[in-house]
Amino acid sequence: MKKKIISSIIIVVLVSAGTGLLIGSRPKKIIIQVDGKVIESKTKEDNVGQAIEEANIELDVNDKLNYDIDDKIKNNQVIVINRVETKENEVIEKIAFNEIVVDDYKTKVGETRIISEGVEGEKKITYTITYEDGNEISRVITSEEIIVEPTDKVVAQGIFDPSSLTVCVNRKSTLSSDYKPTDLVLPDVRAVNSSNRLYMRKEAASALEELFKAAEDENYYLYAVSGYRSYSYQKSIYNPYSGYSAPAGASEHQLGLAMDITLAKYNGTLSVDFGNTKEGKWVKENAHKYGFIIRYLQGKEDITGYNYEPWHLRYLGVDLATELYEKNITLEEYYGDY
Ligand code: DAL
Ligand code: ZN
Repeated sequence: MKKKIISSIIIVVLVSAGTGLLIGSRPKKIIIQVDGKVIESKTKEDNVGQAIEEANIELDVNDKLNYDIDDKIKNNQVIVINRVETKENEVIEKIAFNEIVVDDYKTKVGETRIISEGVEGEKKITYTITYEDGNEISRVITSEEIIVEPTDKVVAQGIFDPSSLTVCVNRKSTLSSDYKPTDLVLPDVRAVNSSNRLYMRKEAASALEELFKAAEDENYYLYAVSGYRSYSYQKSIYNPYSGYSAPAGASEHQLGLAMDITLAKYNGTLSVDFGNTKEGKWVKENAHKYGFIIRYLQGKEDITGYNYEPWHLRYLGVDLATELYEKNITLEEYYGDY
């Protein structure tokens, strides 16, 4: 009997020892921090991924964990799951307008005027924003679309200076009644009439002499008809019904930079036919070499405001005269109309 009791004790010990073999897989305490919560639980699962699944927490591929999901579970392990989310955000932003400054031949030097006000544009910017646990960690522009283009602000900067050799005078850009060049001289050229209407500014007068000499070398005999005209003289000869006549203040002759020319056969008058003569053609093709242009071109009447005048030479200097000649443009086209 005594022997039997002993064997029972042995069985109990063996059972206890068998249970002791299972101690290694006893539930472990884990803490999972996720979605703003702290979840404490016990798990018998082997690795982090299984323990998370057991806790009914869904993992997204973008989520960040402080362990690998294959890492073994340890007792008192704190598993932190950072939810990573991206969202698209559309924002309408203003686009600043540019200010451009243009030279305006009709505005006096030193003055400016606003030609057109600028208008801001609009663009739609799409940001992709990444959040970790609700906190923004990055913001990247993924697309930009212009909805409204901005409109430039255009400011005219005056360049009108009557004393400049390249000034543009016309009906829209006029001279004051008291403007008179200070360096008028009489060019030494063949003329149809008395010299008192033939003055030009010094530089233009010399250039005209060169032009007439060069023409003579080709046996072309040009005659000067009309150079500087005062405001009051222009007023006295203005014919509003003629397409050839400028109102006082609107004539280049007041600049002392223009000369009307002709041939002997026209008896001192100006003729459109001059443009068809060999002399007229030569002048048209060569005047720029001496700094002159035919100011009122055929086919450009709407731009200059005057009929074709093959006889009216305007001094601009060789550079600008050559540019206008080569481009076949008027002074108005060169400066642009604002
Ligand atoms: N014939 C030109 C346009 C003037 O009178 O100035
Ligand atoms: Zn003229």
